[in-house]
Amino acid sequence: MLPEGPGALLYDGQMAVFSGIQPTGPMHLGNYLGALKQWVSMQDAESLYCVVDLHGLTVDSDPALRREWSLDAMASLLAAGLDPSVGPVFLQSRVRYHAQLNWLLECVTSFGELGRMTQFKDKSERQASVRVGLFTYPVLMAGDVLLYNTTQVPVGEDQRQHLELTRELAIRFNNRYGETFVVPDAVLPSVGARVMDLQEPTRKMSKSVPSPLGTLYLLDEPAEIERKVMKAVTDTDGEMRYDPSAKPGLANLLEIFAALSEETPTRVAARFARYGELKKELAARLIATLEPIAARYRELRAEEGEIERVIEAGAAAAAAIAGPVYERAARNIGLL
Ligand code: AMP
Ligand code: TRP
Repeated sequence: MLPEGPGALLYDGQMAVFSGIQPTGPMHLGNYLGALKQWVSMQDAESLYCVVDLHGLTVDSDPALRREWSLDAMASLLAAGLDPSVGPVFLQSRVRYHAQLNWLLECVTSFGELGRMTQFKDKSERQASVRVGLFTYPVLMAGDVLLYNTTQVPVGEDQRQHLELTRELAIRFNNRYGETFVVPDAVLPSVGARVMDLQEPTRKMSKSVPSPLGTLYLLDEPAEIERKVMKAVTDTDGEMRYDPSAKPGLANLLEIFAALSEETPTRVAARFARYGELKKELAARLIATLEPIAARYRELRAEEGEIERVIEAGAAAAAAIAGPVYERAARNIGLL
């Protein structure tokens, strides 16, 4: 959908894509199917992809490990198929406008609307001491998107509410202070937008909740992938059909299969009689998809100099777009 209403005046007819991922540990299949796979297919000269290391600060970690995670995340993006010669791939903290725009947007956001964010409610319940950064995180995210005149944001289902807030803040800012931001849309994959934990198929696969057999990582060895898929929780009636509410474990496997083979889960179900056959074929397909990514990752990760060059070039190209947008926002809100 193209932007309409406030912000539409700034829209120059180009699709501009932006998305980000936190460097908070190894990436899993949910990140790949919900985000990275789409990012690669949507990448062109008008797309920017970002490792959001400032967002990562909301998670506890020691500084040395953070640096490693940022390099790991950059290498994963490139290994998954993003090409920095097509569009910038960069680190959020290297473009200062993200932190700067964040403040302007915090001053048009209400306390109440941030309190309604379900991700904040979930995460803050699991922590003894809740950082303010965890609360204001969706505002920083809105700024990420708005800095690049973004029209489309490919993300998984869990980011839908944050994107709604982004749209609201853009519209509010434009109404109060004049045309400043393009109003973006979320783009969700038709299958794979919410990959569930393989052991607990009623909750999403997640980086932040440890699940040794339930989370399938992009860098898992083939034997490990096979083991996790074969042990995935299903149900006991043995009836092959796609029914997410009655048969969540099986539905998850069918969806993962469908996302990999670009068909519908119902069609996948029709191809198999037994759960074991489905699992076996799914494991083989996952290995065929993930192994080349893991191999490329290991090559890239050994060349930190190259990753640093990608980050620098990406940040320079990103800043050239973000700078004028930030200046427009600062001017319109009344900063001299
Ligand atoms: P995060 O790991 O929270 O930085 O998420 C990065 C991207 O992966 C976002 O677009 C998320 O929506 C997506 N994502 C995370 N977990 C899942 C999941 N279980 N299923 C589908 N997409 C996911
Ligand atoms: N909040 C997103 C997540 O946890 C990551 C993110 C930060 C993002 N800034 C963004 C995603 C901008 C899309 C666009 O997955």
